Amino acid sequence: MELTLLSTLLLLKAVLFFASIALVVMIAPNHKNIDPPFLPSRHTAIRRALDMLAIKPHDVVYELGCGSGRFLFAAYEREPHARYVGIEHSLILIMYARARRLLLGNPRNIEFIRGNLFDTPLAEATKVYAYLLRSAMVTLLPKASRELKGATLVSLAFAFPAEKKCRDTVTIFPPPSNHGEHLLYIYDF
Ligand SMILES: C[S@@+](CC[C@H](N)C(=O)[O-])C[C@H]1O[C@@H](n2cnc3c(N)ncnc32)[C@H](O)[C@@H]1O
Repeated sequence: MELTLLSTLLLLKAVLFFASIALVVMIAPNHKNIDPPFLPSRHTAIRRALDMLAIKPHDVVYELGCGSGRFLFAAYEREPHARYVGIEHSLILIMYARARRLLLGNPRNIEFIRGNLFDTPLAEATKVYAYLLRSAMVTLLPKASRELKGATLVSLAFAFPAEKKCRDTVTIFPPPSNHGEHLLYIYDF
């Protein structure tokens, strides 16, 4: 009896999770088909990315396409004195991230900007996290090269085109993974 209730609850949780992702994907704006859909980073990937970024209190940390803010909240937990900026174009996800910030006591050093990451100025970032798509990385490279000065960027799963040399690659867990989600690419700008 208890087992049936537990499996029903688990099933309901899974259905709600996939339904909310489908809803977000359906109503998110799409720019020239380069926009990645919402898929949250795994916690293990976030932990390794945070190890590589080594965020300090003076850092300004940007997450490009921040989704629910999972990475930024984990980063804030490790280093509460840095400044955090999440850029996200989905209204639902930005509202969700802002609600989570409210529950944290509305820290003034976490900001969620609703906008297109390809149009948002990045110059003040010193550390950047991205989990996008290969096509988005191609579009992002000229902008990142122009605007990011002295910043470190960590990308989950997707590398910039080969012309941008990667400082390091980190394997998070053994392959295979669907789209290379076992890899982090570390870039210096
Ligand atoms: C693969 S998900 C990653 C979410 C989050 N960064 C994480 O790692 O948990 C990509 C996110 O980028 C957002 N996104 C896609 N294109 C965007 C754009 N042009 N401007 C802003 N956000 C965008 C999507 O809505 C989605 O939340």
